[in-house]
Order: sequence, then structure tokens, then C-alpha cells
Amino acid sequence: MRFDAATLANAPTAALRAYDPGHDLPALRRLHGELLAELGSNENPFGPSPLAIAAMRSALDDIHRYPDPKGGALKHALAAELGTEVGRIALGNGSHELLMLLAQCFAGPGTSSVHSEYGFAVFAIATAAAGARSIRVPAFARTHVRRYGHDLEALAAAVEADTRIVFLANPNNPTGSWFDDGELEALLARVPPSVLVVVDEAYHEFVDQDGPRSALAFASRHPNLVVTRTFSKAYALAGLRVGYLVADPGVIEVIERLRESFNVNALALAAAEAALGDRDHLAAARSWTLAERAWLADRLGARGYDVLPSQTNFLLVDLGVDAAELEQRLFARGVIVRPMGGYGLGHALRISIGRRDENERLLAALP
Ligand SMILES: Cc1ncc(COP(=O)(O)O)c(C=O)c1O
Repeated sequence: MRFDAATLANAPTAALRAYDPGHDLPALRRLHGELLAELGSNENPFGPSPLAIAAMRSALDDIHRYPDPKGGALKHALAAELGTEVGRIALGNGSHELLMLLAQCFAGPGTSSVHSEYGFAVFAIATAAAGARSIRVPAFARTHVRRYGHDLEALAAAVEADTRIVFLANPNNPTGSWFDDGELEALLARVPPSVLVVVDEAYHEFVDQDGPRSALAFASRHPNLVVTRTFSKAYALAGLRVGYLVADPGVIEVIERLRESFNVNALALAAAEAALGDRDHLAAARSWTLAERAWLADRLGARGYDVLPSQTNFLLVDLGVDAAELEQRLFARGVIVRPMGGYGLGHALRISIGRRDENERLLAALP
């Protein structure tokens, strides 16, 4: 018999496909650098707090040491900021890792997770990687006022006897859509307490509607509620990979069994703690993003593009026709946006809010 690694992969892994990063951005940067408008990955070009950069510089002095496996200082800072306890916080190598860990710890063969049709892609990947079954619930229709958004009533109704996790994103990537507190409260009342309700709040800091407060407001009444957040978006630290979740201490205790001991590196711990303390910088990043989001949405709308309302740092543009050709045309002019075919939204493009010069380049390249 010949060696064939693919046949050795366990069943859940055999059914997965590797992440498709899209264009080779590092190579493109080397070739075209300044000419690119990078609007594909929902990054934050406002940049991180200078205090975070300074904290990383000083953390370099001890870089020969392992990082704090408990992330104690960052957890204390988070607990103070969020009004919670250290024992309710887990840290991750990005919130992506935490979503994967949740599925690994709580789902598995013979179980299911529930998520919306256009919910963040990692929900389905984490479920499949754990060997569990995805129950994909239709999102609101194109004609609905909450176009492509999560239908929380339908999500609650889709929970089956073997369901372990309901995954929600508020606001959601790639739709930019959001739901309000009343809907979440109704879902929490209906989902059995033996099922985890995971609310991914990666874009929470960009929300400017009254409707959705943080799901953390419901944590004391619902021990099955888990909230994930990240330093990748509003805090502009995507390259460092730091996320956190807030949950019942029992949930944290289970996650800690599987978490790699040093999953958040020393520079990331130092920078995230400093960034959290720089409230003025966060407020400035937020108001800059919101202003630029409104500016770009207005310009696109005036050009006749159908732009979905967004509570995030990106816009979903519904072209109504296959978007692949336009994506290629923009790419040929150095403007990188994300086609949404993988989400079943082949007629839409996701465009991150860039610097003003990048946004202008996008507008100039659009037909
Ligand atoms: C909705 C949502 N959740 C989670 C993440 C993961 O972010 P990170 O792993 O950088 O914390 C992203 C990244 O784009 C996202 O869009």
C-alpha cells in the first residue's frame, strides 16, 4: 500500500477544505505596494493605539520568555472594562480560535449547531471540524427590510434535540446586518438552557443604532450565553490575533482543558491591554470609521449601487447580477474587494471601509 495522507485524515477533517485566502496579498504588496486599495478583509486602516505599539516595544525586552499562559493582566483589564469577573473570560488567538474551540468542546459527532444561511463562515467550519451537523436556517429574504439578516425566530425554532450550539453574529459578516435586544431576549427565552447561544460581536464597537446593545446585558440571566469579541477590528490589531469570550465560569473551565497553554503571544497580550486602556483612540477610530462608512455608502448609492445598511466597517453591495466580473475588473485596477460566491451571495461584493484615498480609488475604478 502506498502512503496517502488524505486517506489518513479523520472523517471531519477529510470533509473540510483549506481556507482560501483569495489573492496573494503579500506578493501583490511587494509588486504594487502603494497602488493597491485593500478593501477585502475588514481591517481597520485608522490603525492601533500608539500606546499598544509602545507596549509591544517594551514587551520585546522579555521576548525570550513564554507569555503568561493565563493572560492575567489582560483578563483583569477586560473584567474591569466590561464589569465582569476574570473567571468569566477566555482569551484566544483571534476570536476565530475561540469559535473553533467552542465547537470542539461542546459539539461533536451526533450533535448539531444552528446558524443563519449567511452567518459568518467560521460557524459552519467550526461545526464541521468538530464532526457535528450544521442546521442552516434561511435568512430574511432579499425583499425583507432586514435583507439577508438573521431570522431569530426561525433560528430558535430550528433547534433540535441534538443541538449543542446556536451561533449568531451581531452585527453579522458578510451582511452587515444586526438584530435588536428584543429579538435576542425572545430567542434566549426559547432556546433550552442546555444549548449554548454564542453571540459573535466582532464588530460591536462600530454599532451606532439604539437597537442592539451587547448581548452581555443578558449574561446574568442566561448562563448558556457566550459572547465573543476581538481586537482585530475596532482596535486595529488584526495582525496580532487576540480575541476573547465572556461566558459562565463553567464554560470557561471546559474551554481551558483544550486551549493551547500559550495561545496568545506576549506582544499581543501587552498590546491588547494597552489598547483597551486607550479609550480616546477607540472613540476616534470608531467615529472616523462611521463617518467614512457614511461617506462611501452615500457615494455608492448616488452612483446607483444597492448598498445594504451596515453596522460594521464594511459594506455589502448587492449588484443583482453575478459579481465575479466586476471583482476581476476592480482587481485589474489594484482594488481588492471580496466576492461573496462562497456565501451563496454570488451577486454581491463585500467592500471594507478603507482610507479615503483607497475609497476614492474604488469609486474611480467602478463602472
Ligand atoms: C463576524 C466575525 N467574527 C469573527 C471574526 C474573526 O476575527 P479574529 O479571529 O480576527 O478575531 C471575523 C473576522 O473577520 C468576523 O468577521
